[in-house]
Amino acid sequence: ARVAVLISGRGSNMAALLYASHAPDCPYEIVLVASNVPDAPGLALARAEGVPVFARAHQGLKRAEFDAIIDAELERAEVQYVALAGYMRLLSEGFVASWAGRCLNIHPSLLPLHKGLDVHEAVLAAGETATGCTVHLVTPALDDGPILGQARVAVIAGDTPETLADRVHYAEHQLYPRVLAELVSGTTGVDAQLARVRALAL
Ligand code: GRF
Repeated sequence: ARVAVLISGRGSNMAALLYASHAPDCPYEIVLVASNVPDAPGLALARAEGVPVFARAHQGLKRAEFDAIIDAELERAEVQYVALAGYMRLLSEGFVASWAGRCLNIHPSLLPLHKGLDVHEAVLAAGETATGCTVHLVTPALDDGPILGQARVAVIAGDTPETLADRVHYAEHQLYPRVLAELVSGTTGVDAQLARVRALAL
């Protein structure tokens, strides 16, 4: 399956998805990395790895206009699935509807706990003993949508938001390629949920 990864920053999850795709039995390939931040560090890595990139600053464009530009690039690259990986931008309803069931996101918490930003601070402030990460299908609401997979990460004494973020990243890098591979090969066991999300698009 042909996959695009949308990033705004470091792109370590993009790298994890890309390197996993080089395994001979991987059912997806990364055909485009796109960003709303032209100097996102992840873009330099994608370029160095020979992956086509598209970058365009979103400033000055309405959300739907910007998303239409991205959408046109996805169409041009014959993309079948879109993986958000640190893409720090809400998507327009039209974009979400047209990619319903084929657009996923990774979030650094055990959703539905701790949506949005500053997740690790919130986990530590709440005194939780475990956190983790979640891959879910994208629906119009932020960090919502059917959960495709989760991984658990223990909180340890002395953790700071930074140490926790680092450890959650390790878990993300394992989880995301696996869940994406399951989704594109139809083995997620969420067919009913997928059907419901696709129905949103009708
Ligand atoms: C990850 O923690 C992801 O869960 C969140 O943004 C972060 C992106 O990190 N949505 P990276 O750019 O993949 O390193």
